[in-house]
Amino acid sequence: MKTALVCGAGGFIGSHMVRRLKDEGYWVRGVDLKFPEFWETVADDFVIGDLREQDLCRRIVDRRFDEVYQFAADMGGAGYVFTGVHDADIMHNSAQINLNMLDVCHKRNVKRIFYSSSACIYPEYNQLDPDNPNCAEDSAYPAQPDSEYGWEKLFSERIYLAYQRNKGMEVRIARFHNMFGPYGSWKDGKEKAPAAMWRKVAMAPDGGEIEIWGDGKQTRSFLYIDECLDGVLRLTRSDWSGPVNIGSDEMVTIDQLADMAMEIAGKKLAKKHIDGPLGVRGRNSDNRLIQEKLGWRPSRPLREGLEKTYRWIAAQVG
Ligand code: NAD
Ligand code: GDD
Repeated sequence: MKTALVCGAGGFIGSHMVRRLKDEGYWVRGVDLKFPEFWETVADDFVIGDLREQDLCRRIVDRRFDEVYQFAADMGGAGYVFTGVHDADIMHNSAQINLNMLDVCHKRNVKRIFYSSSACIYPEYNQLDPDNPNCAEDSAYPAQPDSEYGWEKLFSERIYLAYQRNKGMEVRIARFHNMFGPYGSWKDGKEKAPAAMWRKVAMAPDGGEIEIWGDGKQTRSFLYIDECLDGVLRLTRSDWSGPVNIGSDEMVTIDQLADMAMEIAGKKLAKKHIDGPLGVRGRNSDNRLIQEKLGWRPSRPLREGLEKTYRWIAAQVG
């Protein structure tokens, strides 16, 4: 039986990945500071522990796992990572986790490790025009991420790549572009725009109003969780070893996202634009490289994933 270790298995993407690997017949160990908040884990073994502690990392990497997925990080949406108030924690906590995991995986001769980087590594100067952002993989340098979160991700990408060059580890790195779906943060301050919109739309009375940070003209693309997992598994099991984008290239403005939410919910609401943490002006996943190297691209439209997510959030709101 194949074995996998999922770090960050109590979080959004990690908890979904545990299920996917179990469906594939893997023996799975999950590790996190907490159990998943919104559903039960199906991991064979779930360790509650702090990956900043090297002893814990040594303890959980007690065998030569076939696949290790490193999703653990101190992260959240714009309201968490772009305010600046969590910068020191984000950089310290996430870098420490990555340093520890790489070291113990190397010592245990784990051959292959997946690392979840972010579109936030891309330079701000290429994301100023909301209609034409450039997020091609080879545009990452000269580096100028707009957040410390992005700088930590870039630094960690580089450590993973150095372990690959110097120590013979096989690393696989995806730069995620805003994943969404059920069983993720929606009201704890770490939620991203899709969950925030659903929450606001679900809670507002028809004819009422929702608040949107910024002028609503900033652009993003959003990838449904199942598609994200497909991309991660395909990348991890492939021979391609450079960082690649995993995201949707169906770019929308935040106002359009809100409009879709209202349409799905069947509500007419006014949009009130207010000050808030914004991040880059425009962002879209450039999927040319992953399509060329792995033959992967998202298969379903944004709206379909949004409908599934709305049903879940509406049920949470009650
Ligand atoms: P998440 O916050 O839901 O999950 C991360 C998990 O890591 C959390 O459950 C958290 O408790 C755990 N964790 C944090 N510090 C830990 C520690 N010291 N020890 C053990 N566990 C710890 O985030 P997610 O959306 O599932 O994202 C997973 C990964 O993908 C993260 O690395 C994130 O930076 C990256 N990413 C996600 C997105 C996205 O849109 N979701 C976009 C870009 C990058
Ligand atoms: N979260 C949130 N909540 N965002 C809002 C809201 C709201 O109520 N209203 C408007 N927005 C706007 C934000 O200001 C931002 O301009 C845009 O919607 C997208 O916000 P998020 O989805 O929170 O984050 P992001 O796309 O800027 O960055 C996220 O994705 C990255 C990967 O692409 C973050 O989660 C990063 O951590 C992640 O790496």
